Amino acid sequence: MRFRKKTVRDIDVTGKNVLVRVDYNVPIKDGEVADDMRIRASLPTLQYLMEQNVAKIILISHLGRPDGESKPEFSLAPVAKKLAELLPDKDVRFSDATVGEAARYAVDNLPQGGIILLENLRFSPLEEENSDAYADEILSATGADIFVQDGFAVIHRAHASTDAIARKIPAVAGFLVEKEVSSLESVINNPERPLLVIIGGAKVEDKQPLIDKFLPIADRIAVGGKIAADGYTSNDEKVYVADKFVEDENGAKLDISKECAAKIMSMVLKSKTVVWNGVLGKVEDPRFAKASHAVALTIGSYDGCFSVIGGGDTAGFVDSLKEDDLNFNLVSTGGGASLELLSGKTLPGLEVLQNY
Ligand code: 3PG
Repeated sequence: MRFRKKTVRDIDVTGKNVLVRVDYNVPIKDGEVADDMRIRASLPTLQYLMEQNVAKIILISHLGRPDGESKPEFSLAPVAKKLAELLPDKDVRFSDATVGEAARYAVDNLPQGGIILLENLRFSPLEEENSDAYADEILSATGADIFVQDGFAVIHRAHASTDAIARKIPAVAGFLVEKEVSSLESVINNPERPLLVIIGGAKVEDKQPLIDKFLPIADRIAVGGKIAADGYTSNDEKVYVADKFVEDENGAKLDISKECAAKIMSMVLKSKTVVWNGVLGKVEDPRFAKASHAVALTIGSYDGCFSVIGGGDTAGFVDSLKEDDLNFNLVSTGGGASLELLSGKTLPGLEVLQNY
């Protein structure tokens, strides 16, 4: 099925100032980027734009939730440093202003072919208010001709940088948004069967819409994680809920048992499509990461299925297993965004882009 939005391929970008909304909301530890998955995921679009000889690339992003105030611990400066390391041959700069004269000056001084990341959009309350005036300010500071939405993880938000701004200049999707949306929509609309959906995580109120959405679509649904440990039940015969657990010294159920993990692994090997959202135990403690690890190994080393790993904690967990040399068709960079898309909600930051 064709992606229903225009992408950077469908628009002439040569010689233009291109404003790219990325999601560089990454963990920062001791002033350094602790996980660069989202930064790496933005590179294909940036590389393509550079090959098309755009004039300048201006990147905008949020980091964390600074509540509309300028707070140094939420600065994107460490992210610009990491991006410069990932693109060693390019002129990658950082502007500590997001809008106004200082930002305009920084963009004007950027040489042709350069990339500049502007400071955290959420240092102004106007970003989350989806303010038209803030979108205008960004456009005036950057002289942008074209807007590219490549921040998949933030397209479930209607903010100035995801919604208002996309109504003002030609707005298309980047490759990350295209890849994530296409893969996630394909497992809902056109999955190769059997389709297995594995659901874990902690909050049943977050995951129930996902279970409801997949009940009529999936061939099997397996539920683990804290939801199962807290006693989740279903009367539907296609739903399997883990019922034995590994406990800590206080009797808290913190992982599903080896037998339950084995059952889910055997379901994986009988499936042609596997969607996994939510870890199966308290994976930050290695004692309770065993089931998730075993299931990840099974999915990632089985080439008989199309695999989609959605959700912030699941993607982070799978990404931490790099040494195991696993292959997944999609490891989503979006927690809330992938959950909302898979649950059937519309994503404002996607809908606003030009239709194909
Ligand atoms: C995320 O990490 O899920 C996105 O960057 C969105 O962040 P938010 O939940 O603070 O809007």
